[in-house]
Amino acid sequence: MDQGKLDRLLLQRIEAKGKITVLTGAGISAESGIPTFRGPEGYWTVGSRVYQPQEMATWNMFQRDPRAVWQWYLYRLGICARAEPNQGHHALVELANLFQNRFTLITQNVDNLHLRAGQDANQTYEIHGNIFFVRCSNECDGSIHPLPQGITGKSKEEAISEDQWETLHCSECGQLLRPHVLWFDETYNEPHYRLESTLAVTHETTVLVIVGTSGATNLPNQIVSKVYRQGGAIIDINIASNRFGQFAEAYDAGMAILQPSNTALPEFVQYLKNRLS
Ligand code: OAD
Repeated sequence: MDQGKLDRLLLQRIEAKGKITVLTGAGISAESGIPTFRGPEGYWTVGSRVYQPQEMATWNMFQRDPRAVWQWYLYRLGICARAEPNQGHHALVELANLFQNRFTLITQNVDNLHLRAGQDANQTYEIHGNIFFVRCSNECDGSIHPLPQGITGKSKEEAISEDQWETLHCSECGQLLRPHVLWFDETYNEPHYRLESTLAVTHETTVLVIVGTSGATNLPNQIVSKVYRQGGAIIDINIASNRFGQFAEAYDAGMAILQPSNTALPEFVQYLKNRLS
Protein backbone atom coordinates (compact mmCIF):
# COMPACT_ATOMS: atom_id res chain seq x y z
CA MET A 1 0.00 0.00 0.00
CA ASP A 2 1.55 3.33 -1.05
CA GLN A 3 1.45 5.21 2.25
CA GLY A 4 3.07 8.34 0.79
CA LYS A 5 0.20 8.65 -1.66
CA LEU A 6 -2.39 7.91 1.02
CA ASP A 7 -0.84 10.66 3.18
CA ARG A 8 -1.14 13.12 0.33
CA LEU A 9 -4.77 12.19 -0.41
CA LEU A 10 -6.11 11.74 3.09
CA LEU A 11 -4.38 13.63 5.88
CA GLN A 12 -5.54 17.17 5.12
CA ARG A 13 -9.03 16.00 4.24
CA ILE A 14 -9.32 14.08 7.49
CA GLU A 15 -8.08 17.06 9.53
CA ALA A 16 -10.70 19.20 7.79
CA LYS A 17 -13.30 17.14 9.68
CA GLY A 18 -15.29 15.96 6.67
CA LYS A 19 -17.02 12.60 6.64
CA ILE A 20 -15.42 9.31 5.72
CA THR A 21 -17.83 7.10 3.80
CA VAL A 22 -17.27 3.48 2.83
CA LEU A 23 -19.22 1.93 -0.05
CA THR A 24 -19.15 -1.86 -0.19
CA GLY A 25 -20.23 -4.45 -2.73
CA ALA A 26 -20.25 -8.23 -3.05
CA GLY A 27 -16.44 -8.45 -3.20
CA ILE A 28 -16.08 -7.77 0.54
CA SER A 29 -18.11 -10.90 1.29
CA ALA A 30 -16.37 -13.10 -1.30
CA GLU A 31 -13.79 -14.21 1.29
CA SER A 32 -16.73 -15.24 3.53
CA GLY A 33 -17.84 -17.68 0.83
CA ILE A 34 -20.74 -15.69 -0.64
CA PRO A 35 -20.60 -15.75 -4.44
CA THR A 36 -20.38 -12.29 -6.04
CA PHE A 37 -23.34 -11.10 -8.10
CA ARG A 38 -21.75 -11.12 -11.50
CA GLY A 39 -19.54 -14.13 -10.82
CA PRO A 40 -20.22 -17.56 -12.42
CA GLU A 41 -22.35 -19.00 -9.57
CA GLY A 42 -25.34 -16.70 -9.66
CA TYR A 43 -27.64 -18.64 -12.00
CA TRP A 44 -30.78 -20.58 -10.94
CA THR A 45 -32.82 -23.27 -12.67
CA VAL A 46 -36.64 -23.30 -12.69
CA GLY A 47 -37.99 -26.38 -14.50
CA SER A 48 -35.78 -26.70 -17.55
CA ARG A 49 -34.89 -23.03 -17.83
CA VAL A 50 -31.75 -21.38 -16.45
CA TYR A 51 -32.18 -17.86 -15.06
CA GLN A 52 -29.60 -15.20 -14.24
CA PRO A 53 -29.94 -13.13 -11.03
CA GLN A 54 -30.96 -10.18 -13.21
CA GLU A 55 -34.08 -12.18 -14.16
CA MET A 56 -34.80 -13.81 -10.78
CA ALA A 57 -34.40 -10.67 -8.68
CA THR A 58 -37.30 -8.82 -10.24
CA TRP A 59 -40.81 -7.79 -9.31
CA ASN A 60 -41.84 -9.16 -12.68
CA MET A 61 -40.57 -12.66 -11.85
CA PHE A 62 -42.16 -12.45 -8.39
CA GLN A 63 -45.51 -11.72 -10.07
CA ARG A 64 -45.12 -14.63 -12.46
CA ASP A 65 -43.69 -17.26 -10.10
CA PRO A 66 -43.44 -16.10 -6.47
CA ARG A 67 -42.65 -19.59 -5.20
CA ALA A 68 -39.62 -19.89 -7.49
CA VAL A 69 -38.38 -16.47 -6.36
CA TRP A 70 -38.80 -17.39 -2.68
CA GLN A 71 -37.10 -20.76 -3.28
CA TRP A 72 -34.11 -18.93 -4.79
CA TYR A 73 -33.98 -16.43 -1.90
CA LEU A 74 -34.15 -19.19 0.71
CA TYR A 75 -31.20 -20.86 -1.00
CA ARG A 76 -29.26 -17.57 -0.91
CA LEU A 77 -30.40 -17.06 2.68
CA GLY A 78 -28.81 -20.40 3.63
CA ILE A 79 -25.49 -19.31 2.12
CA CYS A 80 -25.62 -15.97 3.97
CA ALA A 81 -26.64 -17.59 7.27
CA ARG A 82 -23.73 -20.05 7.13
CA ALA A 83 -21.17 -17.36 6.22
CA GLU A 84 -19.13 -15.50 8.83
CA PRO A 85 -17.89 -11.91 8.64
CA ASN A 86 -14.23 -11.75 7.56
CA GLN A 87 -11.30 -9.49 8.43
CA GLY A 88 -12.58 -6.88 5.97
CA HIS A 89 -15.92 -6.55 7.77
CA HIS A 90 -14.18 -6.42 11.14
CA ALA A 91 -11.70 -3.78 9.97
CA LEU A 92 -14.63 -1.54 8.98
CA VAL A 93 -16.02 -1.80 12.51
CA GLU A 94 -12.63 -0.54 13.76
CA LEU A 95 -12.78 2.27 11.21
CA ALA A 96 -16.24 3.22 12.48
CA ASN A 97 -14.89 3.30 16.05
CA LEU A 98 -12.00 5.49 14.92
CA PHE A 99 -14.19 8.07 13.19
CA GLN A 100 -17.37 7.78 15.29
CA ASN A 101 -20.11 10.04 13.90
CA ARG A 102 -17.93 11.06 10.95
CA PHE A 103 -18.20 7.50 9.58
CA THR A 104 -20.97 6.03 7.40
CA LEU A 105 -21.13 2.65 5.71
CA ILE A 106 -23.17 2.33 2.54
CA THR A 107 -23.54 -1.27 1.45
CA GLN A 108 -25.09 -2.91 -1.58
CA ASN A 109 -24.88 -6.27 0.15
CA VAL A 110 -28.01 -7.89 1.52
CA ASP A 111 -26.07 -10.59 3.43
CA ASN A 112 -26.17 -8.91 6.88
CA LEU A 113 -22.45 -9.55 7.44
CA HIS A 114 -21.60 -5.93 8.29
CA LEU A 115 -24.19 -5.89 11.07
CA ARG A 116 -23.14 -9.33 12.28
CA ALA A 117 -19.55 -8.05 12.47
CA GLY A 118 -20.82 -5.42 14.92
CA GLN A 119 -21.40 -2.41 12.67
CA ASP A 120 -23.91 0.06 14.12
CA ALA A 121 -27.22 -0.22 12.22
CA ASN A 122 -27.76 3.56 12.38
CA GLN A 123 -24.51 4.18 10.53
CA THR A 124 -25.09 1.38 7.99
CA TYR A 125 -27.23 2.19 4.97
CA GLU A 126 -28.32 -1.06 3.32
CA ILE A 127 -29.24 0.48 -0.02
CA HIS A 128 -30.28 -2.86 -1.54
CA GLY A 129 -32.04 -4.16 1.59
CA ASN A 130 -31.33 -7.19 3.79
CA ILE A 131 -32.22 -10.78 2.95
CA PHE A 132 -32.99 -11.58 6.61
CA PHE A 133 -35.99 -9.23 6.52
CA VAL A 134 -39.37 -9.25 4.76
CA ARG A 135 -42.22 -6.87 4.05
CA CYS A 136 -45.71 -7.17 2.63
CA SER A 137 -45.59 -7.45 -1.18
CA ASN A 138 -48.77 -5.39 -1.22
CA GLU A 139 -46.95 -2.68 0.83
CA CYS A 140 -50.05 -2.57 3.07
CA ASP A 141 -48.13 -0.64 5.75
CA GLY A 142 -44.58 -0.61 4.35
CA SER A 143 -43.08 -1.94 7.59
CA ILE A 144 -40.05 -4.22 7.62
CA HIS A 145 -39.93 -7.38 9.76
CA PRO A 146 -37.45 -10.17 10.48
CA LEU A 147 -38.15 -13.39 8.57
CA PRO A 148 -41.11 -15.22 10.12
CA GLN A 149 -40.31 -18.02 12.57
CA GLY A 150 -39.63 -21.33 10.87
CA ILE A 151 -38.28 -19.74 7.67
CA THR A 152 -34.67 -20.80 7.28
CA GLY A 153 -32.18 -21.29 4.48
CA LYS A 154 -32.68 -24.22 2.12
CA SER A 155 -30.57 -26.35 -0.21
CA LYS A 156 -31.30 -26.19 -3.93
CA GLU A 157 -33.32 -29.40 -3.74
CA GLU A 158 -35.35 -28.72 -0.56
CA ALA A 159 -38.85 -27.42 -1.38
CA ILE A 160 -40.81 -24.88 0.68
CA SER A 161 -43.42 -26.77 2.75
CA GLU A 162 -47.10 -25.73 2.77
CA ASP A 163 -46.76 -24.62 6.42
CA GLN A 164 -43.81 -22.43 5.55
CA TRP A 165 -45.68 -20.99 2.57
CA GLU A 166 -48.53 -20.10 4.92
CA THR A 167 -46.17 -18.17 7.23
CA LEU A 168 -44.85 -16.24 4.23
CA HIS A 169 -48.10 -14.24 4.17
CA CYS A 170 -48.69 -10.83 5.72
CA SER A 171 -50.36 -10.99 9.14
CA GLU A 172 -52.13 -7.68 8.42
CA CYS A 173 -53.62 -8.15 4.95
CA GLY A 174 -52.96 -11.80 4.05
CA GLN A 175 -50.97 -11.00 0.90
CA LEU A 176 -47.68 -12.72 0.22
CA LEU A 177 -44.57 -11.37 1.96
CA ARG A 178 -41.54 -10.53 -0.14
CA PRO A 179 -37.82 -10.45 0.65
CA HIS A 180 -36.78 -6.96 1.77
CA VAL A 181 -34.42 -6.40 -1.16
CA LEU A 182 -34.31 -3.99 -4.06
CA TRP A 183 -35.07 -5.76 -7.32
CA PHE A 184 -33.63 -4.94 -10.72
CA ASP A 185 -36.90 -3.50 -12.03
CA GLU A 186 -37.46 -1.29 -8.94
CA THR A 187 -36.13 2.09 -7.85
CA TYR A 188 -34.40 3.38 -4.72
CA ASN A 189 -36.41 5.19 -2.05
CA GLU A 190 -35.81 6.52 1.46
CA PRO A 191 -38.09 4.42 3.67
CA HIS A 192 -36.75 1.11 2.45
CA TYR A 193 -33.34 1.87 0.98
CA ARG A 194 -32.13 5.17 2.53
CA LEU A 195 -31.90 7.07 -0.76
CA GLU A 196 -32.09 10.61 0.65
CA SER A 197 -29.89 9.75 3.64
CA THR A 198 -27.28 8.36 1.27
CA LEU A 199 -27.31 11.49 -0.88
CA ALA A 200 -27.11 13.70 2.22
CA VAL A 201 -24.09 11.91 3.66
CA THR A 202 -22.43 11.86 0.25
CA HIS A 203 -22.74 15.64 0.18
CA GLU A 204 -20.60 15.84 3.35
CA THR A 205 -18.08 13.17 2.31
CA THR A 206 -14.45 14.21 1.92
CA VAL A 207 -13.02 10.67 1.83
CA LEU A 208 -14.77 7.84 -0.03
CA VAL A 209 -13.47 4.27 0.24
CA ILE A 210 -15.01 1.86 -2.28
CA VAL A 211 -14.65 -1.86 -1.63
CA GLY A 212 -15.38 -4.85 -3.88
CA THR A 213 -17.95 -3.52 -6.30
CA SER A 214 -18.08 -3.63 -10.08
CA GLY A 215 -19.89 -0.26 -10.16
CA ALA A 216 -22.84 -1.54 -12.17
CA THR A 217 -25.67 0.09 -10.22
CA ASN A 218 -27.08 3.57 -10.27
CA LEU A 219 -26.80 4.99 -6.75
CA PRO A 220 -23.15 3.96 -6.23
CA ASN A 221 -22.33 5.78 -9.48
CA GLN A 222 -24.08 8.90 -8.19
CA ILE A 223 -22.09 8.68 -4.94
CA VAL A 224 -18.76 8.42 -6.73
CA SER A 225 -19.44 11.26 -9.16
CA LYS A 226 -20.74 13.54 -6.39
CA VAL A 227 -17.66 12.98 -4.20
CA TYR A 228 -15.47 13.59 -7.25
CA ARG A 229 -17.25 16.87 -8.05
CA GLN A 230 -16.75 17.97 -4.43
CA GLY A 231 -13.00 17.24 -4.66
CA GLY A 232 -13.12 14.40 -2.13
CA ALA A 233 -10.52 11.63 -2.08
CA ILE A 234 -11.58 8.34 -3.69
CA ILE A 235 -9.85 5.08 -2.76
CA ASP A 236 -10.95 1.90 -4.56
CA ILE A 237 -10.10 -1.53 -3.12
CA ASN A 238 -10.74 -4.46 -5.48
CA ILE A 239 -8.91 -7.60 -6.59
CA ALA A 240 -9.46 -6.64 -10.23
CA SER A 241 -9.37 -3.55 -12.38
CA ASN A 242 -12.90 -2.14 -12.50
CA ARG A 243 -14.87 0.94 -13.44
CA PHE A 244 -14.39 2.79 -10.11
CA GLY A 245 -10.73 1.78 -9.77
CA GLN A 246 -9.96 3.09 -13.24
CA PHE A 247 -11.81 6.28 -12.44
CA ALA A 248 -9.88 6.69 -9.18
CA GLU A 249 -6.53 6.11 -10.87
CA ALA A 250 -7.28 8.77 -13.49
CA TYR A 251 -8.21 11.31 -10.78
CA ASP A 252 -5.48 13.24 -8.94
CA ALA A 253 -7.20 12.70 -5.56
CA GLY A 254 -7.87 9.03 -6.28
CA MET A 255 -6.08 5.73 -5.86
CA ALA A 256 -6.81 2.09 -6.71
CA ILE A 257 -5.56 -0.63 -4.38
CA LEU A 258 -5.55 -3.95 -6.25
CA GLN A 259 -5.77 -6.34 -3.32
CA PRO A 260 -8.38 -8.58 -1.63
CA SER A 261 -10.40 -6.57 0.86
CA ASN A 262 -9.77 -8.96 3.76
CA THR A 263 -6.08 -8.02 3.72
CA ALA A 264 -6.30 -4.48 2.29
CA LEU A 265 -8.86 -3.16 4.80
CA PRO A 266 -7.01 -4.24 7.99
CA GLU A 267 -3.83 -2.68 6.50
CA PHE A 268 -5.67 0.51 5.57
CA VAL A 269 -7.24 0.85 9.02
CA GLN A 270 -3.90 0.20 10.73
CA TYR A 271 -2.33 2.90 8.55
CA LEU A 272 -5.03 5.39 9.64
CA LYS A 273 -4.67 4.43 13.31
CA ASN A 274 -0.91 5.05 13.10
CA ARG A 275 -1.40 8.43 11.46
CA LEU A 276 -4.11 9.58 13.84
CA SER A 277 -2.47 8.43 17.09
P1 OAD B 1 -20.45 -7.71 -8.53
O1 OAD B 1 -20.54 -9.20 -8.49
O2 OAD B 1 -20.95 -6.99 -9.72
O3 OAD B 1 -18.94 -7.27 -8.35
C1 OAD B 1 -18.11 -7.78 -7.34
C2 OAD B 1 -16.78 -7.05 -7.36
O4 OAD B 1 -16.01 -7.54 -6.27
C3 OAD B 1 -15.97 -7.26 -8.62
O5 OAD B 1 -15.48 -5.98 -9.07
C4 OAD B 1 -14.79 -8.15 -8.14
O6 OAD B 1 -13.58 -7.87 -8.84
C5 OAD B 1 -14.68 -7.72 -6.70
N1 OAD B 1 -14.08 -8.71 -5.79
C6 OAD B 1 -14.26 -10.07 -5.80
N2 OAD B 1 -13.59 -10.63 -4.77
C7 OAD B 1 -12.99 -9.61 -4.09
C8 OAD B 1 -12.17 -9.54 -2.93
N3 OAD B 1 -11.82 -10.63 -2.25
N4 OAD B 1 -11.73 -8.32 -2.52
C9 OAD B 1 -12.08 -7.20 -3.19
N5 OAD B 1 -12.85 -7.21 -4.30
C10 OAD B 1 -13.29 -8.39 -4.75
O7 OAD B 1 -21.15 -7.20 -7.20
P2 OAD B 1 -21.63 -5.74 -6.81
O8 OAD B 1 -20.79 -4.69 -7.44
O9 OAD B 1 -21.80 -5.71 -5.34
O10 OAD B 1 -28.01 -5.25 -6.67
O11 OAD B 1 -23.05 -5.70 -7.46
C11 OAD B 1 -23.82 -4.57 -7.21
C12 OAD B 1 -25.25 -4.88 -7.27
O12 OAD B 1 -25.55 -5.47 -8.53
C13 OAD B 1 -25.76 -5.91 -6.30
O13 OAD B 1 -25.98 -5.39 -5.00
C14 OAD B 1 -27.05 -6.28 -6.93
C15 OAD B 1 -26.72 -6.23 -8.43
O14 OAD B 1 -27.59 -5.49 -9.20
C16 OAD B 1 -29.31 -5.57 -6.61
O15 OAD B 1 -29.71 -6.73 -6.63
C17 OAD B 1 -30.22 -4.41 -6.49
